[in-house]
Amino acid sequence: MDFNGSHILSIDQFDRSDIDQLFSVANDLEPFSLRKKVTRVLEGAILGNMFFEPSTRTRISFGAAFNMLGGAVRETSEVGSSSLVKGESLIDTAKVLSSYSDIIVMRHPDEGSVKSFSEASRVPVINGGDGSNEHPTQALLDLYTIKKELETQKKTMDGLRIALVGDLKFGRAAHSLIKALCLYKDVSINLISPEELRLPDSYLTLLAKAGVKITQSENLEEGIAEVDIIYMTRIQEERFKNKSHAKKYKGLLSLNNEIYTANCEPNTVIMHPLPRDSRKEANELDSDLYENPNLAIFRQADNGVVIRMALFTLVLGVADQVHMTARDVNWQTSKRH
Ligand code: CP
Repeated sequence: MDFNGSHILSIDQFDRSDIDQLFSVANDLEPFSLRKKVTRVLEGAILGNMFFEPSTRTRISFGAAFNMLGGAVRETSEVGSSSLVKGESLIDTAKVLSSYSDIIVMRHPDEGSVKSFSEASRVPVINGGDGSNEHPTQALLDLYTIKKELETQKKTMDGLRIALVGDLKFGRAAHSLIKALCLYKDVSINLISPEELRLPDSYLTLLAKAGVKITQSENLEEGIAEVDIIYMTRIQEERFKNKSHAKKYKGLLSLNNEIYTANCEPNTVIMHPLPRDSRKEANELDSDLYENPNLAIFRQADNGVVIRMALFTLVLGVADQVHMTARDVNWQTSKRH
Protein backbone atom coordinates (compact mmCIF):
# COMPACT_ATOMS: atom_id res chain seq x y z
CA MET A 1 0.00 0.00 0.00
CA ASP A 2 1.03 3.60 -0.39
CA PHE A 3 0.91 4.80 3.23
CA ASN A 4 1.35 8.47 2.32
CA GLY A 5 -2.00 10.25 2.77
CA SER A 6 -3.96 7.02 3.34
CA HIS A 7 -6.67 6.47 5.90
CA ILE A 8 -5.80 3.50 8.13
CA LEU A 9 -9.15 1.86 8.80
CA SER A 10 -8.66 -1.90 8.70
CA ILE A 11 -6.01 -4.60 8.75
CA ASP A 12 -7.46 -5.60 5.35
CA GLN A 13 -5.36 -2.78 3.84
CA PHE A 14 -2.06 -4.44 4.82
CA ASP A 15 -0.06 -7.16 3.17
CA ARG A 16 3.10 -8.67 4.59
CA SER A 17 5.42 -6.22 2.85
CA ASP A 18 3.44 -3.27 4.32
CA ILE A 19 3.80 -4.74 7.77
CA ASP A 20 7.52 -5.40 7.23
CA GLN A 21 7.94 -1.78 6.08
CA LEU A 22 6.11 -0.47 9.16
CA PHE A 23 8.22 -2.66 11.47
CA SER A 24 11.43 -1.53 9.81
CA VAL A 25 10.48 2.13 10.40
CA ALA A 26 9.46 1.26 13.98
CA ASN A 27 12.88 -0.32 14.64
CA ASP A 28 14.53 2.85 13.37
CA LEU A 29 12.35 4.96 15.71
CA GLU A 30 13.05 2.99 18.89
CA PRO A 31 15.72 5.45 20.19
CA PHE A 32 13.00 8.13 20.03
CA SER A 33 10.27 6.10 21.71
CA LEU A 34 12.78 5.08 24.40
CA ARG A 35 13.48 8.81 24.99
CA LYS A 36 17.16 8.61 24.08
CA LYS A 37 16.73 10.94 21.11
CA VAL A 38 14.27 13.65 20.08
CA THR A 39 13.22 14.80 16.63
CA ARG A 40 11.17 17.77 15.40
CA VAL A 41 10.11 16.13 12.13
CA LEU A 42 6.41 16.92 12.71
CA GLU A 43 6.98 20.39 14.17
CA GLY A 44 3.88 22.49 13.38
CA ALA A 45 1.66 19.50 12.63
CA ILE A 46 -1.55 18.95 14.61
CA LEU A 47 -3.13 15.61 15.55
CA GLY A 48 -6.88 15.61 16.21
CA ASN A 49 -7.18 12.80 18.76
CA MET A 50 -10.93 12.17 18.81
CA PHE A 51 -12.03 9.56 21.32
CA PHE A 52 -15.76 9.10 21.70
CA GLU A 53 -15.33 6.02 23.89
CA PRO A 54 -13.09 5.40 26.95
CA SER A 55 -9.40 4.71 26.34
CA THR A 56 -6.12 4.84 28.24
CA ARG A 57 -3.47 3.21 26.03
CA THR A 58 -4.66 4.06 22.54
CA ARG A 59 -5.46 7.71 23.18
CA ILE A 60 -2.40 8.49 25.27
CA SER A 61 0.05 6.51 23.13
CA PHE A 62 -1.18 8.10 19.89
CA GLY A 63 -0.82 11.51 21.55
CA ALA A 64 2.60 10.71 23.00
CA ALA A 65 3.79 9.30 19.66
CA PHE A 66 2.79 12.51 17.88
CA ASN A 67 4.43 14.68 20.56
CA MET A 68 7.62 12.60 20.34
CA LEU A 69 7.77 13.44 16.63
CA GLY A 70 7.50 17.15 17.46
CA GLY A 71 3.79 17.61 16.69
CA ALA A 72 0.97 19.05 18.82
CA VAL A 73 -2.16 17.21 19.95
CA ARG A 74 -5.74 18.49 20.33
CA GLU A 75 -8.18 16.02 21.76
CA THR A 76 -11.69 15.10 22.74
CA SER A 77 -11.96 12.27 25.20
CA GLU A 78 -15.73 11.77 25.40
CA VAL A 79 -18.87 12.32 23.35
CA GLY A 80 -20.23 14.55 26.13
CA SER A 81 -17.57 17.19 25.52
CA SER A 82 -18.21 17.41 21.76
CA SER A 83 -21.15 18.87 19.82
CA LEU A 84 -22.23 15.34 18.84
CA VAL A 85 -24.46 15.56 21.95
CA LYS A 86 -26.24 18.51 20.33
CA GLY A 87 -27.13 16.33 17.34
CA GLU A 88 -24.25 17.29 15.04
CA SER A 89 -23.54 14.53 12.53
CA LEU A 90 -20.24 12.68 12.24
CA ILE A 91 -20.00 13.99 8.67
CA ASP A 92 -20.15 17.64 9.78
CA THR A 93 -17.79 16.86 12.64
CA ALA A 94 -15.30 15.36 10.17
CA LYS A 95 -15.54 18.30 7.78
CA VAL A 96 -14.87 20.76 10.61
CA LEU A 97 -12.19 18.86 12.52
CA SER A 98 -10.23 18.03 9.41
CA SER A 99 -9.62 21.72 8.83
CA TYR A 100 -8.11 22.03 12.32
CA SER A 101 -5.78 19.03 12.04
CA ASP A 102 -3.22 17.41 9.73
CA ILE A 103 -4.27 13.91 10.74
CA ILE A 104 -7.05 12.49 12.91
CA VAL A 105 -7.26 9.42 15.13
CA MET A 106 -10.77 8.42 16.03
CA ARG A 107 -12.43 5.90 18.33
CA HIS A 108 -16.19 5.49 18.29
CA PRO A 109 -18.61 2.87 19.67
CA ASP A 110 -20.35 2.23 16.33
CA GLU A 111 -19.01 -0.28 13.80
CA GLY A 112 -18.13 1.43 10.51
CA SER A 113 -18.32 4.92 12.05
CA VAL A 114 -14.62 5.69 11.55
CA LYS A 115 -14.89 4.74 7.87
CA SER A 116 -17.90 7.05 7.42
CA PHE A 117 -16.01 9.82 9.21
CA SER A 118 -12.96 9.29 6.97
CA GLU A 119 -15.07 9.68 3.83
CA ALA A 120 -15.94 13.25 4.89
CA SER A 121 -12.46 14.08 6.21
CA ARG A 122 -9.98 16.19 4.27
CA VAL A 123 -7.02 14.66 6.14
CA PRO A 124 -5.96 11.04 6.84
CA VAL A 125 -7.96 9.25 9.54
CA ILE A 126 -6.66 6.36 11.66
CA ASN A 127 -9.11 3.94 13.26
CA GLY A 128 -8.52 3.82 17.02
CA GLY A 129 -11.31 1.23 17.41
CA ASP A 130 -14.85 1.17 15.98
CA GLY A 131 -17.27 -0.80 18.12
CA SER A 132 -16.60 -4.52 18.00
CA ASN A 133 -15.38 -4.29 14.41
CA GLU A 134 -11.66 -3.48 14.24
CA HIS A 135 -8.70 -2.02 16.12
CA PRO A 136 -6.02 -2.16 13.41
CA THR A 137 -3.21 -0.38 15.24
CA GLN A 138 -3.66 -2.73 18.21
CA ALA A 139 -3.15 -5.67 15.82
CA LEU A 140 -0.02 -4.03 14.39
CA LEU A 141 1.51 -3.50 17.82
CA ASP A 142 0.46 -7.02 18.82
CA LEU A 143 2.19 -8.49 15.76
CA TYR A 144 5.30 -6.39 16.47
CA THR A 145 5.30 -7.70 20.04
CA ILE A 146 4.80 -11.31 18.95
CA LYS A 147 7.65 -11.00 16.43
CA LYS A 148 10.04 -9.51 19.01
CA GLU A 149 9.13 -12.01 21.72
CA LEU A 150 9.55 -14.94 19.29
CA GLU A 151 12.90 -13.59 18.07
CA THR A 152 14.28 -13.90 21.61
CA GLN A 153 13.42 -17.61 21.33
CA LYS A 154 14.80 -17.91 17.78
CA LYS A 155 11.29 -18.52 16.38
CA THR A 156 9.52 -16.81 13.49
CA MET A 157 5.98 -15.65 12.81
CA ASP A 158 5.62 -18.41 10.23
CA GLY A 159 4.76 -21.53 12.20
CA LEU A 160 3.25 -19.52 15.06
CA ARG A 161 1.03 -21.39 17.52
CA ILE A 162 -1.28 -19.06 19.43
CA ALA A 163 -4.25 -19.38 21.81
CA LEU A 164 -6.84 -16.58 21.68
CA VAL A 165 -8.86 -16.61 24.87
CA GLY A 166 -12.00 -14.83 26.08
CA ASP A 167 -14.61 -12.76 24.31
CA LEU A 168 -13.94 -13.57 20.65
CA LYS A 169 -17.40 -12.42 19.57
CA PHE A 170 -17.12 -8.75 20.52
CA GLY A 171 -13.35 -8.30 20.94
CA ARG A 172 -12.16 -5.96 18.17
CA ALA A 173 -8.49 -6.44 19.11
CA ALA A 174 -8.87 -10.19 18.53
CA HIS A 175 -10.74 -9.56 15.27
CA SER A 176 -7.99 -7.39 13.81
CA LEU A 177 -5.25 -9.71 15.06
CA ILE A 178 -6.95 -12.71 13.45
CA LYS A 179 -7.01 -10.92 10.09
CA ALA A 180 -3.32 -10.07 10.47
CA LEU A 181 -2.38 -13.66 11.37
CA CYS A 182 -3.92 -14.81 8.06
CA LEU A 183 -0.90 -13.18 6.34
CA TYR A 184 1.56 -15.69 7.84
CA LYS A 185 2.35 -19.31 6.96
CA ASP A 186 1.63 -22.46 8.98
CA VAL A 187 -0.20 -20.59 11.74
CA SER A 188 -2.34 -22.55 14.20
CA ILE A 189 -4.86 -20.85 16.46
CA ASN A 190 -6.68 -22.33 19.43
CA LEU A 191 -9.87 -20.30 19.91
CA ILE A 192 -10.98 -20.58 23.53
CA SER A 193 -14.19 -18.86 24.55
CA PRO A 194 -17.57 -19.48 26.13
CA GLU A 195 -19.90 -21.03 23.53
CA GLU A 196 -21.98 -17.83 23.19
CA LEU A 197 -18.88 -15.64 22.72
CA ARG A 198 -17.29 -17.65 19.91
CA LEU A 199 -15.56 -16.00 16.99
CA PRO A 200 -18.13 -14.90 14.36
CA ASP A 201 -18.43 -17.09 11.27
CA SER A 202 -17.07 -14.39 8.95
CA TYR A 203 -13.68 -14.61 10.70
CA LEU A 204 -13.76 -18.42 10.67
CA THR A 205 -14.24 -18.21 6.89
CA LEU A 206 -11.21 -15.92 6.55
CA LEU A 207 -9.09 -18.30 8.63
CA ALA A 208 -10.18 -21.28 6.53
CA LYS A 209 -9.40 -19.44 3.28
CA ALA A 210 -5.93 -18.54 4.58
CA GLY A 211 -5.24 -22.16 5.53
CA VAL A 212 -4.91 -21.38 9.25
CA LYS A 213 -5.34 -24.46 11.43
CA ILE A 214 -7.89 -23.83 14.18
CA THR A 215 -9.40 -25.58 17.16
CA GLN A 216 -12.39 -24.21 19.09
CA SER A 217 -13.17 -25.06 22.68
CA GLU A 218 -14.12 -23.75 26.11
CA ASN A 219 -11.19 -25.53 27.78
CA LEU A 220 -8.41 -23.15 28.81
CA GLU A 221 -6.04 -25.80 30.17
CA GLU A 222 -6.04 -27.85 26.95
CA GLY A 223 -6.00 -24.84 24.64
CA ILE A 224 -2.88 -23.25 26.16
CA ALA A 225 -0.87 -26.48 26.40
CA GLU A 226 1.18 -26.36 23.19
CA VAL A 227 1.34 -22.75 22.03
CA ASP A 228 3.99 -20.05 21.71
CA ILE A 229 1.63 -17.21 22.67
CA ILE A 230 -1.43 -16.96 24.91
CA TYR A 231 -3.51 -13.89 24.01
CA MET A 232 -6.03 -13.24 26.80
CA THR A 233 -8.95 -10.83 26.32
CA ARG A 234 -11.55 -9.17 28.52
CA ILE A 235 -15.30 -9.84 28.38
CA GLN A 236 -16.46 -6.77 26.41
CA GLU A 237 -19.27 -5.84 28.80
CA GLU A 238 -19.88 -2.53 27.01
CA ARG A 239 -20.95 -4.38 23.83
CA PHE A 240 -23.73 -6.40 25.50
CA LYS A 241 -27.25 -5.06 24.92
CA ASN A 242 -28.04 -6.12 28.47
CA LYS A 243 -24.87 -5.53 30.49
CA SER A 244 -25.98 -7.85 33.29
CA HIS A 245 -25.70 -10.77 30.81
CA ALA A 246 -21.94 -10.17 30.61
CA LYS A 247 -21.60 -11.18 34.26
CA LYS A 248 -22.15 -14.89 33.61
CA TYR A 249 -19.06 -15.06 31.38
CA LYS A 250 -16.70 -13.24 33.73
CA GLY A 251 -14.26 -15.46 35.58
CA LEU A 252 -14.93 -18.50 33.35
CA LEU A 253 -11.56 -18.25 31.60
CA SER A 254 -8.94 -16.97 34.05
CA LEU A 255 -5.22 -17.53 33.72
CA ASN A 256 -3.09 -17.58 36.86
CA ASN A 257 0.36 -18.82 37.80
CA GLU A 258 -0.85 -22.27 38.86
CA ILE A 259 -2.73 -22.92 35.61
CA TYR A 260 0.17 -21.53 33.55
CA THR A 261 2.79 -23.65 35.31
CA ALA A 262 0.72 -26.83 35.16
CA ASN A 263 -0.17 -26.60 31.48
CA CYS A 264 2.17 -24.42 29.41
CA GLU A 265 5.43 -25.14 27.67
CA PRO A 266 8.38 -23.21 29.14
CA ASN A 267 8.65 -19.67 27.68
CA THR A 268 5.03 -19.48 26.51
CA VAL A 269 4.47 -15.74 26.16
CA ILE A 270 1.42 -14.16 27.80
CA MET A 271 -0.21 -11.19 26.06
CA HIS A 272 -3.36 -9.12 26.59
CA PRO A 273 -4.36 -5.96 24.69
CA LEU A 274 -5.42 -4.44 28.04
CA PRO A 275 -7.29 -3.17 29.90
CA ARG A 276 -7.63 -6.43 31.81
CA ASP A 277 -10.55 -6.61 34.20
CA SER A 278 -8.84 -7.07 37.56
CA ARG A 279 -12.05 -7.13 39.58
CA LYS A 280 -12.42 -10.32 41.62
CA GLU A 281 -15.40 -11.62 39.61
CA ALA A 282 -13.51 -11.37 36.29
CA ASN A 283 -9.72 -11.40 36.79
CA GLU A 284 -8.97 -13.01 33.42
CA LEU A 285 -5.24 -12.53 33.96
CA ASP A 286 -4.16 -12.84 37.58
CA SER A 287 -1.63 -10.46 39.12
CA ASP A 288 0.25 -13.49 40.52
CA LEU A 289 1.84 -13.65 37.03
CA TYR A 290 3.55 -10.24 37.56
CA GLU A 291 6.94 -11.82 38.23
CA ASN A 292 6.72 -14.25 35.30
CA PRO A 293 9.29 -13.04 32.71
CA ASN A 294 7.02 -14.35 29.95
CA LEU A 295 4.30 -11.88 30.90
CA ALA A 296 4.66 -9.47 27.96
CA ILE A 297 1.61 -7.26 28.55
CA PHE A 298 3.54 -4.13 29.49
CA ARG A 299 6.17 -4.61 26.76
CA GLN A 300 3.17 -4.97 24.43
CA ALA A 301 1.63 -1.68 25.66
CA ASP A 302 5.03 0.05 25.33
CA ASN A 303 5.21 -1.05 21.70
CA GLY A 304 2.06 0.95 21.00
CA VAL A 305 4.07 4.16 21.01
CA VAL A 306 6.73 3.17 18.50
CA ILE A 307 4.26 1.49 16.13
CA ARG A 308 2.05 4.59 16.17
CA MET A 309 5.08 6.82 15.62
CA ALA A 310 6.01 4.71 12.60
CA LEU A 311 2.49 4.92 11.23
CA PHE A 312 2.42 8.73 11.57
CA THR A 313 5.74 9.14 9.76
CA LEU A 314 4.61 6.89 6.89
CA VAL A 315 1.13 8.38 6.51
CA LEU A 316 2.51 11.93 6.68
CA GLY A 317 5.40 11.10 4.34
CA VAL A 318 8.30 11.98 6.66
CA ALA A 319 9.76 8.56 7.52
CA ASP A 320 13.01 9.41 5.69
CA GLN A 321 13.33 12.84 7.38
CA VAL A 322 13.18 11.85 11.06
CA HIS A 323 16.96 11.94 11.53
CA MET A 324 17.41 15.39 9.95
CA THR A 325 16.34 17.11 13.19
CA ALA A 326 17.37 14.34 15.58
CA ARG A 327 19.52 14.94 18.62
CA ASP A 328 20.22 13.25 21.94
CA VAL A 329 17.87 14.22 24.77
CA ASN A 330 19.07 16.88 27.22
CA TRP A 331 17.90 15.04 30.30
CA GLN A 332 19.13 11.88 32.00
CA THR A 333 16.86 9.17 30.66
CA SER A 334 15.54 6.73 33.18
CA LYS A 335 13.66 4.41 30.80
CA ARG A 336 14.26 0.81 31.73
CA HIS A 337 13.05 -2.44 30.24
N1 CP B 1 -5.84 -1.75 24.13
C1 CP B 1 -6.63 -0.66 24.14
O1 CP B 1 -7.29 -0.32 23.13
O2 CP B 1 -6.66 -0.01 25.33
P1 CP B 1 -7.50 1.30 25.63
O3 CP B 1 -8.96 0.95 25.54
O4 CP B 1 -7.08 1.72 27.01
O5 CP B 1 -7.13 2.31 24.58
